[in-house]
Amino acid sequence: MSTIRELYTEALSLLKNFPDASVESKVLVLKSLAISEEVFYSYPDRHVSKSEKQRFYESVLKRQQGIPLSYVVGEKEFWSLPFKVSPGVLIPRPETEHLVEKVLELSTRTEEVIIDIGTGSGNIAVSLARELPKARILATDISPEALKTARMNASVHKVSRITFLKGNLFSALSGLLLEEQCDFIVSNPPYVTECQWETLQDEIRLHEPKKALVSGKTGREIIERLASGAPNFLKQGGYLCMEIGLGQQDDVLNLFGMEWERVDSFKDLSGIPRLVIAQKII
Ligand SMILES: C[S@@+](CC[C@H](N)C(=O)[O-])C[C@H]1O[C@@H](n2cnc3c(N)ncnc32)[C@H](O)[C@@H]1O
Repeated sequence: MSTIRELYTEALSLLKNFPDASVESKVLVLKSLAISEEVFYSYPDRHVSKSEKQRFYESVLKRQQGIPLSYVVGEKEFWSLPFKVSPGVLIPRPETEHLVEKVLELSTRTEEVIIDIGTGSGNIAVSLARELPKARILATDISPEALKTARMNASVHKVSRITFLKGNLFSALSGLLLEEQCDFIVSNPPYVTECQWETLQDEIRLHEPKKALVSGKTGREIIERLASGAPNFLKQGGYLCMEIGLGQQDDVLNLFGMEWERVDSFKDLSGIPRLVIAQKII
């Protein structure tokens, strides 16, 4: 019979070519045995059952095949909350937490209306709903699978104030009388170019949904539609907050004309301009 410690050692050896082998091995042991870190460290000699061992080997095998760790274990942490993910849904990235942070800085914490376009796993909408209990949040996506996952995450994190809507960008909002009613439109849109997609590492290109990442030839197609459509839905003084890709800052800043004041970009922790925030003229 094997112990927790032996499974961990086995994972370390099987994943020795992965840069984060020790972290990943621990995660795979924790998830396949459904144990906490406390149990992992306090009871390393606990025996594991046959079915636990089988689950462990299945998950290590998937990881060895290059399936992203978050898909293997079915979740990814964002804003210190676990979010369920599956292969049809983008894995939330840590840099997107910056978008949540900025919205919280700008929020008046009153009954604001917030639209999250391209909600994916619901990571942005659910995190904002947890932080802003008075806000009314609408979260949209073109992908039914993303919306299913986002609804599940809202339920897991006990936020019932998010309305989920399916549709192509702003068309999801038609008929809801939200014109000039919104305080924030937030989005982490697809912004990768067709060419960049071909150069992405296999772990992303072979497993994550292309439609969640690729916008078109320039990478700015969806960003441009967000910038042109947002004024119709924003109140005077409302904000459009978007994540952008590497090198897109100048072109994106140039999209904002007379209808906007205070257009700024913000860098992520690696010093890359990652966010553009534009305020509709008051
Ligand atoms: C980069 S992912 C972001 C997901 C999530 N918000 C996050 O931050 O991890 C972009 C999301 O936009 C959705 N999407 C792509 N094109 C869309 C469109 N035309 N209308 C609405 N949603 C779209 C994708 O399905 C995907 O879930």
